[in-house]
Amino acid sequence: MIKIDGNTIILRGRSMSYIMYVNECGDLLNFHFGRQLADEDYSAMKRECEEKLGYTSNVRSLDVYPQEYPAYGHSDLRDPAFEVVNRFGNAVAELKVKSLKVMSGTAPMEGMPSLFNGSGDAQTLEAVLSDEIIGLEVALYYTVFDGYDAVARSAVLRNVSDSAMTILSAYSASLDLPVNDYEIIHFAGAWGREREMYRTKLTTGMKAEIENARGGSGHQINPFVMVAEEGADEDHGGVYGFSLIYSGNHSTAAKVDQFGALRIEQGINPRQFRWELEPGGEFYTPQSVLCYSCEGIGALSREYHDIYRRDLMRSKWAGKTRPLLLNNWEGTYFDFTEEKLLSMAKAAKDIGLELFVLDDGWFGKRNDDTSSLGDWFVNYEKLPSGIDGLAEKITDLGLMFGLWFEPEMVNADSELYRAHPDWAIRVGEREPVEARNQLILDLSRDEVCEYIIEAVSKILSSAKIGYVKWDMNRQMADMPCLGYNHKYTLGFYKIMSTITGSFPDVLFEGCSAGGGRFDPGVLAYMPQIWTSDNSDAAARLKIQYSTSMCYPVYSISTHVTASPNHQNGRVTRLKTRADVAFAGTFGYELDITKMPEEELNEIKRQIKFDKTIRTLVRDGDLYRLQDPYTSNYCSWEIASKDRRRALLFSCKILSVANSKDKRIKLKGLDPSLRYVNTLTGEVYGGDVLMYRGIRIDYGTYDFATEIIEFSAI
Ligand code: DGJ
Repeated sequence: MIKIDGNTIILRGRSMSYIMYVNECGDLLNFHFGRQLADEDYSAMKRECEEKLGYTSNVRSLDVYPQEYPAYGHSDLRDPAFEVVNRFGNAVAELKVKSLKVMSGTAPMEGMPSLFNGSGDAQTLEAVLSDEIIGLEVALYYTVFDGYDAVARSAVLRNVSDSAMTILSAYSASLDLPVNDYEIIHFAGAWGREREMYRTKLTTGMKAEIENARGGSGHQINPFVMVAEEGADEDHGGVYGFSLIYSGNHSTAAKVDQFGALRIEQGINPRQFRWELEPGGEFYTPQSVLCYSCEGIGALSREYHDIYRRDLMRSKWAGKTRPLLLNNWEGTYFDFTEEKLLSMAKAAKDIGLELFVLDDGWFGKRNDDTSSLGDWFVNYEKLPSGIDGLAEKITDLGLMFGLWFEPEMVNADSELYRAHPDWAIRVGEREPVEARNQLILDLSRDEVCEYIIEAVSKILSSAKIGYVKWDMNRQMADMPCLGYNHKYTLGFYKIMSTITGSFPDVLFEGCSAGGGRFDPGVLAYMPQIWTSDNSDAAARLKIQYSTSMCYPVYSISTHVTASPNHQNGRVTRLKTRADVAFAGTFGYELDITKMPEEELNEIKRQIKFDKTIRTLVRDGDLYRLQDPYTSNYCSWEIASKDRRRALLFSCKILSVANSKDKRIKLKGLDPSLRYVNTLTGEVYGGDVLMYRGIRIDYGTYDFATEIIEFSAI
């Protein structure tokens, strides 16, 4: 609900309020973002707020005002939300409120994914601010939903002067939070160690810039950041979330000013960015989704999960159960024949799997990673029946068929590159930098995007393909011009929206050398994302635990792979690998034709079990119970919204002799109901499970896991 009451603007979610007001000078200021306020007459407090801020006595200084979209200079000397070089050659601006309007529905977004209005309960505030001296208008958009504690923010910068302007930076959202002790939580890593969680105290003068300028949203830094009030934990305390719906270079900058207030901004990374704005021109920022929880980090995560499941993921598959798959990659790598694939697919069908995915190596002359990216036509030497023939044979077995692509790339050794060497990104005369022997296609060019759309569409229309894995295996080392990465990202979105729009029944899975592009921009088109090439169950505990901070569990793609693990050599039990993988879109990625009968029987039981829990994993509420970053345990629980079912997963990471394991207390159940452990038949009261807890007998080996399903009786 949005209400404009005189100079006060009240945005209300389920249990939060975001309140702004326009002061007598026309500045748009933040009054409150946090737990819902019932009292709507804030005039006394506003006065108090401004008096306190007017510390410089007779000089009015924006330097201490909590602004919504601050400029640099003209009294505010903190980090600005935007910098635009005007016709006078400076980057000073002073934005005053010109108009306020409430619209039903969501904000306009040009060519970029954003939240949509899944249940028709969205309202958007448009606040147009303007600087008449330089002829700049900024429209700020704030979308709220009745059911959520979220505010989706974006900005449109407009040149209403008759001279060109240059945008040096334009964040999607800027928020000034009052003096407090804050900690910032961010997710950093590398290939195979994606989204490790770090928590740092913010102190005056220190600028925390959580940013990535490597081309995609990146393995190194995820575009999701939390700001926690000191002491806030999984279940208690105030926590703010900032999640950018964007797949390119991003930045979230937080700085505590001289008086202890915190300014936090999120949007496109200003590094290597510049955008010319001709008279009449507009620039749209991506959308940043701000959430607030007064009940700790767990509730904040559940908020993001709900909103992203309902209002971000557009695919038809978003709300459907996903087919359990066998992917051939770690089973065969490039070394496969049609016969081998068919034998794997038959074995997959026999054990109850539903989708067979052919990964890299089916096209051009590709037998290793040195050639053929860009040549999206089948290699008949390997696959004599072609993709259509193979797909036919696999679908005849009663399985869906899926195919891997890496459409944004080209190898120098390819027909495409020989025909169009200029289609690869390069910086002027310099030789382009190769990584994994490949170059990136220039998605800022229409003809390149059209080629990709055509090439992929041709294959998808030619065969019974129900699933696509869309990979992207390198970082962008060459930026041909300032602002290039944004142009590339817009090209990527154009391709994604065209292809997913033309093939609405196909299930798309995002991938980027593992989890290098696990972001809401990708999620908008592809409802599941390959989480990491590191599929070792012990490593996945941390990776999945921290990925779940923002992203719905069912968007996290999880495969059982071979032991010893191919990435880190660790040996784990088949049970451990499956128990960890159940919290995600589940599948296998190993050569099941070589597995002993006994293991295949165990796999059959796992598949049968996953089929019974996957709707719970898809729709349930996630509760994190034990933290692998700070303890020898990792536990999580997925409870159904009606609180009648729950799936408990627990892992004791390293075995301890004569161990003193704590009881695990479940969350989100109904204390007055009785629940049965569906495996053992033991019955517990919901109060016992939640307030007393249960003890798990892990056994004496490393990475011991237990999974228990409780169902109300
Ligand atoms: C990287 C992906 O993460 C892997 O799963 C696999 O698809 C390879 N690329 C194929 O080249």
